Order: sequence, then structure tokens, then C-alpha cells
Amino acid sequence: MDKILKNMVEFASKNNIPIIEKSSSEILIKTVKEKNPKNILEIGTAIGYSGSLMLKNSNANLTTIEISSKNILLAKENFENLNLLHRVNLIEGDANEIIKKLSFDNKLFDFIFLDGPKSKYVSQLPYLLNILETNGLIFADDVLFRGLVNNGQYPKHKHRTIVIKLREFLSNVQNNHNLSSKLLEIGNGILIIKKIK
Ligand SMILES: C[S@@+](CC[C@H](N)C(=O)[O-])C[C@H]1O[C@@H](n2cnc3c(N)ncnc32)[C@H](O)[C@@H]1O
Repeated sequence: MDKILKNMVEFASKNNIPIIEKSSSEILIKTVKEKNPKNILEIGTAIGYSGSLMLKNSNANLTTIEISSKNILLAKENFENLNLLHRVNLIEGDANEIIKKLSFDNKLFDFIFLDGPKSKYVSQLPYLLNILETNGLIFADDVLFRGLVNNGQYPKHKHRTIVIKLREFLSNVQNNHNLSSKLLEIGNGILIIKKIK
């Protein structure tokens, strides 16, 4: 692995910044290589690790949204060090609001990496589908949240909102006839969604 990428993994671990798990990152890279997207949207940049992986494994440009100004600075520095910054539109702010505005830009994405707040996947889905091309993919990470989403149990108080909202997200995707999807029990669970019409 590139030394800068390796340093990013170490930095994230030391500073308790959640980034994509290794097993999930391998599936992300494989999916990006197969799809070969042109325009990627990412919700949840953190320090730019997954964004860098997607850029290094495609010819795409990346629009990536992050709420933490501290993370934005770190991500910018990392993209710059990897010589990827010219392919990145780094947006600081609340993705819940920004994705509503993106639909007015008339720009469509062919790949979306959904990795921001888990309890918001379900409310973000309709806006993301508006800006996703037909045949485009949404790669949603952590959808099984520590195995609590598909254990058949009523969630304990601590994670109740996230678990209920993720169950709702999975059910909405599976019941939408314009979508096909594949659930992978890898890492914290990955849902790969294809917009078929
Ligand atoms: C799991 S981390 C992203 C990890 C990154 N995709 C990676 O694998 O390298 C989730 C990120 O979403 C950010 N976030 C949380 N709520 C957000 C929001 N409402 N809008 C944008 N970003 C948000 C957090 O600050 C955090 O950096």
C-alpha cells in the first residue's frame, strides 16, 4: 500500500477517526474498478481515505461532503499529498442539506459512497436517487451496524434510533421496484444498490 495511505490509516486509528474497514475497502475498490465511474459522490469524507482509494482506482472526479472543519483540513492535505486534489470537490457542511441543493445543479453521479450518519441513510435516500444516474450505484457502508440490524431483536435503548432507521433503510431499498440490491455481510455490512430505472 502507498505509504501516505498507510499513514492515513495509522493517523485515523490513533485519533479515533472512523474510516472504512479493510475488508469493506477491498469490496469498495473492486466495485469501483468494475463500475469505472466518472462522477463519484461521497457522504462522509473524514480524512479522505476512502475518497483516495476510489480516486486511485478509477478515472473519476469526486465530490465529497464532510461536516467537521477539522476533518476537511486533514482531507485537503491528504488529497494534496497524494496529488489527487485537482479531482476533488471538497464540500464542508451538513450532507442532509447539501444533497438537497445538489439536485438543482443538474449534475448526476454514477457512483455514491454513503458513509455519513447511519441514522440519516433512510431520509437521504430519495435525494440521492434524484442525483443518481440510471444504472448508477450506491455503496452504503455499515448497514448492519455491529450485527444489531439483522439479529431479529428489538434494539436496546443505546442504539435504538440507528438500528430502527437502518432497518427502515434496508426495507425501503428492498421494496423499491426501481432498485436492485445486494447485501454483503462483510465488515459492518454493505448494501450495494443499483438504480435500474
Ligand atoms: C465513517 S466516517 C467516514 C469515513 C470515510 N468515508 C473513510 O472511510 O475514509 C463518517 C464521517 O461523516 C461525517 N459526518 C457526520 N455527520 C455528517 C453530516 N451530517 N454531513 C456530512 N458529514 C457528516 C463525520 O464527521 C465523519 O467524518
